[in-house]
Amino acid sequence: MTGSGRGKLILCGEHAVVYGWPALAFGTSLETRVTLRDRPGPTDVAAGCFRDARIVDALVAELGPDGVEVDVQSDIPVGRGMGSSAALAVALARAAAARRGDAPTDDAIDAAALRIERTFHGTPSGIDGAVAARGGLVAFRRTEAGPVIERLSPPPWSVVVLDSGCAGDTRVMVDGVRSRRPGVDDALARIGALVEDIRTVLPDVDAVGPRLVENHFLLREIGVSTPDLDALVSIALRSGASGAKLSGAGGGGVVIAVGRDPDRIVQGAMQHGIPAFVAVQGGALS
Ligand code: MEV
Repeated sequence: MTGSGRGKLILCGEHAVVYGWPALAFGTSLETRVTLRDRPGPTDVAAGCFRDARIVDALVAELGPDGVEVDVQSDIPVGRGMGSSAALAVALARAAAARRGDAPTDDAIDAAALRIERTFHGTPSGIDGAVAARGGLVAFRRTEAGPVIERLSPPPWSVVVLDSGCAGDTRVMVDGVRSRRPGVDDALARIGALVEDIRTVLPDVDAVGPRLVENHFLLREIGVSTPDLDALVSIALRSGASGAKLSGAGGGGVVIAVGRDPDRIVQGAMQHGIPAFVAVQGGALS
């Protein structure tokens, strides 16, 4: 039995989304696949791409201590804010449902993925799982009554990814922001307002860009950027990007950049020895 989940990139709104503000994110063409087979004896996990023991613990907790062989294949870089843990959670939830003979809805997959993701970091908003399950561009908001998820039309511009080469730890970053509340609440609210504003100008890359830069400065204000990520934003802007920001939990991971000439941004990054590529959007998987 197999299941898959998409990698994601958050366009705007990370961290604030944990506290009920909206965020925009899209599924990438990168994916994680989980294959489950029956086996005698203890559940055995082959997930070499995920070196974190928490991942293995989460998989065993979900599947039970005995009787399953789990194989994980992933082309999503781990710890880069590109949604590797949520894609794994969705892929596992789907494979486990298929093994039980269920045909689960997106909502059921969201709930299962959230449960698994909680093992990786204490209080996920659910945005990563929502995108991993659906692909495409999604507007997400966490509410008391459950997540509100809207599918949006993809904008007519591409996103360039610049990789810092360092991994960030989502749990550490989310806990750090929480420990700085209420001091950072005003910045979180300003991020939320910015997301609403970006939605109104979404087709216009020249209008989106400066708002992404503002989002980056707010993320820096709440303490999740690093000098390396700030430098990547500067390099992207000097390479013709209309805007750039860190994407994901921060503390490492990637910067995203948008502009009229994505190839120029990629080349500008490469000239500084920074791996960069144009992200390809991916649609729904099963
Ligand atoms: C991580 O990809 C996004 C965060 O907002 C955490 C979350 O929403 O669960 C930092």
